[in-house]
Amino acid sequence: MENLTIINHPLIQHKLTEMRKKTTSSNHFRTLLKEISLLLAYEITRNLPMETISIETPLERYEAPTLAGKKLALISILRAGNGLLDGVLDLIPSARVGFLGLYRNEKTLQPVEYYSKVPGDLSNRVCIAVDPMLATGGSVSFAVDYLKKKGAKDIRFLCLLAAPEGVEVMQKNHPDVKVFTASLDRSLNDIGYILPGLGDAGDRLYGTK
Ligand code: PRP
Ligand code: URA
Repeated sequence: MENLTIINHPLIQHKLTEMRKKTTSSNHFRTLLKEISLLLAYEITRNLPMETISIETPLERYEAPTLAGKKLALISILRAGNGLLDGVLDLIPSARVGFLGLYRNEKTLQPVEYYSKVPGDLSNRVCIAVDPMLATGGSVSFAVDYLKKKGAKDIRFLCLLAAPEGVEVMQKNHPDVKVFTASLDRSLNDIGYILPGLGDAGDRLYGTK
């Protein structure tokens, strides 16, 4: 799985275990996801393009490193993507933000689009799509197709849990997109849920069911 990076930090793993517990409240689940997303964002942005600028410190002139190029774009795959977006945006507050509303048809497991609004000029931006769950890979494949049609060239995907089936689909459909996750779980069950997983991320975040 060359396209996959597993971010195996002890704090992330500890918080993820709390999230998986079925007794964890929505309030606590949201807080944990926000905390984890800060740590994941740190890794996914590790190799952002840099340049140097000339600045004056109080003591002398210095050629200082700074982020290069246009502000990056964060694309939240609604609705659960917003649970990751909040933390990543705290770390990168100047990022541009787009939304792609998708839900999985419960029978076919195919994504259905219901909303989209993304920054207009994606071609020169690093685009980070966020969604906590990579299950069959249908939703993120659809999202990446959409972003490529809008001109995006450098696309990364950040999730919390990934199933091997979904990672393979991404490798086949979008080998250029690097996938970052906190855990590669075992497999999908017969209705497309990740095992051991954490259940329905959107429902757990927002207390619906
Ligand atoms: C969940 C999740 C992903 C999708 C993953 O969303 O947040 O978007 O399922 O499944 P896939 O890899 O098989 O496509 P869901 O459709 O439940 O919508 P929600 O975020 O509104 O709850
Ligand atoms: N979407 C979720 O929210 N959870 C899963 O386990 C699979 C898809």
